[in-house]
Amino acid sequence: MRVLSGVQPSGKVHLGNYLGAIKQHLEAQEQHECFFFIANFHSLTTIQDAARLRELTRDVALDYLALGIDPAKACLFRQSDIPEVTELAWILATVTGKGLLERAHSYKDKIAKGLVPSMGLFCYPVLMAADILIYKSDLVPVGKDQVQHIEMTQDMAEYFNNTYGRAVLKRPEPKLNEAPVVPGIDGQKMSKSYGNTIPLFDSAKATRKLIMSIKTDSTPVEAPKDPEACNVFAIAKLMTSPQETEALAARYRAGGMGYGEAKSLLAEAVERVLGPARERRAKLEAEPDYVEDVLATAARRARAVAQEVMHEVREACGIVTRAS
Ligand code: ADP
Ligand code: TRP
Repeated sequence: MRVLSGVQPSGKVHLGNYLGAIKQHLEAQEQHECFFFIANFHSLTTIQDAARLRELTRDVALDYLALGIDPAKACLFRQSDIPEVTELAWILATVTGKGLLERAHSYKDKIAKGLVPSMGLFCYPVLMAADILIYKSDLVPVGKDQVQHIEMTQDMAEYFNNTYGRAVLKRPEPKLNEAPVVPGIDGQKMSKSYGNTIPLFDSAKATRKLIMSIKTDSTPVEAPKDPEACNVFAIAKLMTSPQETEALAARYRAGGMGYGEAKSLLAEAVERVLGPARERRAKLEAEPDYVEDVLATAARRARAVAQEVMHEVREACGIVTRAS
């Protein structure tokens, strides 16, 4: 089973990303062949500052490696190291109706938020389909917002195969994160766009300060509290063992525990995970050659697969190159 997922280098990763997506990627590498890539071509639709894009691209690599992506188990690479992806995107565009792309929710949402409706933004799902189909991926773990893009990918694979009468491209299936929506410090969904995140790699002190600022209600310390109605508990239960979660819930219900104390317990639980990751990240940051080597080695493996599939694609549609 080949699992593939992409992450856009577009800002600081946060606890919602970790609990909602990255943890799933870490689990997948234990069971499946995994390709994870940094979608820097996609980020060009929003980030048009070369130094910033380079920095964000590097950051994703450091973040993923620090959190536990193991180069011996999973391929972690840059999208731009596989130039065949853009070639396949063009070919897919020629078999895809404009109407399919016009129905994309994500495009409409982005335009509504004021993003420039560039051709790149419009064709974003075609490039994403190429990312997936070029490795004959079986499973694509994503959040709910990306499911439509995977369905469009399934359609594009079918258009290509039907047009050329050959089953070259493989139909991928989305794999939804089961993790519930992680609330941010204001209680809304934690998201970069809402400015309410707990970033994974801020200092321990800054992280604790953010956790202490999570919004809670005004139930007095002595009163019993409903853990299920509390944002602090909602995050804590995703960061602690079932026994610890149960013990914390019992303290909520018993009364006598203030929210400050619950936040302190959460800060400790978060630090248990992030502390060691922060240290690993600092070490990796001091070893840029090692990180570059990891990305390059993984890209060579991924590219070998991409080149083989592109050979079949070119054969099917009659594109002649010296390489094919
Ligand atoms: P953001 O909303 O911060 O821009 P992205 O859209 O880049 O986050 O999401 C990257 C991944 O993290 C997706 O798989 C998404 O489902 C997951 N994710 C993001 N925010 C949350 C959250 N608050 N709770 C659970 N999962 C989340
Ligand atoms: N569009 C995805 C997102 O914003 C990132 C992405 C690009 C991706 N290509 C992909 C995800 C291929 C899965 C598979 O989160």
